[in-house]
Amino acid sequence: MQIPCTDRELFIFKKIAAVAQETATPAYIIGGFVRDKILGRNTKDADIVCLGDGIAFAEKIAERFNPKPNVTVFKNFGTAQIKLPDIEIEIVGARKESYRSESRKPTVFAGSLQDDQNRRDFTINALSISLNKNDFGELIDPFNGIRDLQLKIIRTPLEPETTFSDDPLRMLRAIRFATQLNFTIEEKTFNAIVAEKERINIISKERIADELNKIMLSKKPSIGWDLLFKSGLLQIIFPQMAALAGAENVEGVGHKDNFYHTIQVIDNISQKTQNLWLRWAALLHDIGKPPTKKFEKGHGWTFHGHEIVGAKMTPKIFAQLKLPLNEKMKYVQKLVALHMRPAFLSKDEITDSAIRRLLFDAGEDADDLMTLCEADITSKNPNKVRRYLQNFELVRKRMIEVEESDKLRNWQPPISGQLIMETFNLQPSKEVGIIKDFIRESILDGIIPNNYEAAYQLMLQKANELGLKAVSE
Ligand code: CTP
Repeated sequence: MQIPCTDRELFIFKKIAAVAQETATPAYIIGGFVRDKILGRNTKDADIVCLGDGIAFAEKIAERFNPKPNVTVFKNFGTAQIKLPDIEIEIVGARKESYRSESRKPTVFAGSLQDDQNRRDFTINALSISLNKNDFGELIDPFNGIRDLQLKIIRTPLEPETTFSDDPLRMLRAIRFATQLNFTIEEKTFNAIVAEKERINIISKERIADELNKIMLSKKPSIGWDLLFKSGLLQIIFPQMAALAGAENVEGVGHKDNFYHTIQVIDNISQKTQNLWLRWAALLHDIGKPPTKKFEKGHGWTFHGHEIVGAKMTPKIFAQLKLPLNEKMKYVQKLVALHMRPAFLSKDEITDSAIRRLLFDAGEDADDLMTLCEADITSKNPNKVRRYLQNFELVRKRMIEVEESDKLRNWQPPISGQLIMETFNLQPSKEVGIIKDFIRESILDGIIPNNYEAAYQLMLQKANELGLKAVSE
């Protein structure tokens, strides 16, 4: 084997080799598995290409295992999948046509291994390993993919226009691999992305979202966002983010480039968390800046209320990018809305009541909010950075203290609306809301402690003011 494999992988590949020999169907490992093994990355899927009917070949392979695993067939793609406990194998017959093209239904012609390699996206993804008796384990690398792996280059095997026209998603895949692997996109390949960028419009939003999320989960997502911007793809798929770019200057007063600030914040947060949605919150935290930007004489540039506008934009952006419109979106929206609060807090003396309100509004996401605020510090001035961090440290400390005494993080009203209705024999009404709000505000302002007894007394007092009588009286 010219790639490092575990004993188990070798055992599986030998079984496939036996089927290849028995059925006189040449077979090869191809694509991401070979690439990742050479790079020393973890990989759990192996793509197998055979010169013949991939689905029939998969059935034969499955028969060699005990117990026989299920074979899942994807007729549209002519592929079959076998899920073993530790590895997933996908089998396909070699073809002359493109992979995964959805812009049109390609007529698939059976092809040679070389045809199949020609139609793959990048030289580093066209590497294959023979599973055949005469050259078992040998690397077949017609496009010098090994050299490109060493040089850390993303390059198409054919003319890039041809490869991208087969499947325009590959333009995004090039950027995604460059980000994940920290590779450079070869100049001709990159120029073709710039030239062909409008073709991304024929690709489904879901496939685009998959690639964006892979960029977001990389070690340094800024590489991908910068390439998306420089290629012009970002302006097409996510114009609100592209609008962050640029630093205007009026009367000698400039502001920072919010695009480069934002992608730096994403990198910062990526060093602290694997949480995809916290990373998305970092991406969107300043998305309300372009629509709120003003130059005010005497003040300079302002972005008043950008966090509120950003929070309003969040559901629309999630819908547009086909990201999930569920509690993940709500979580991102909440963090965008609150991201200025700890900074405002740390400017002045921090009152208990301000900390209580922040804990109440952030709820269980208070820690994530602080992680976002800390990642938001991108100043080049080390003194400023130290000062901001110390302030946030203080906010965190005060949050812990207030939380210990007041237990506000997952606050539930100590007096329920139900109890108010029963006590005063009320139907659901305005009065119930008034009493509940009064109790909540009094707890947040520290007028009464966060417990049942105190809240009950306050309820009686407020009801009395409203002219309500308790049923038992
Ligand atoms: N492929 C392609 N064009 C695409 C998608 C895939 O040529 N638009 C080919 C590549 O040879 C790729 C293989 O199909 O290596 C498998 O695709 P996929 O599983 O999507 O990607 P991997 O390379 O395995 O990488 P990852 O798992 O990180 O997505």
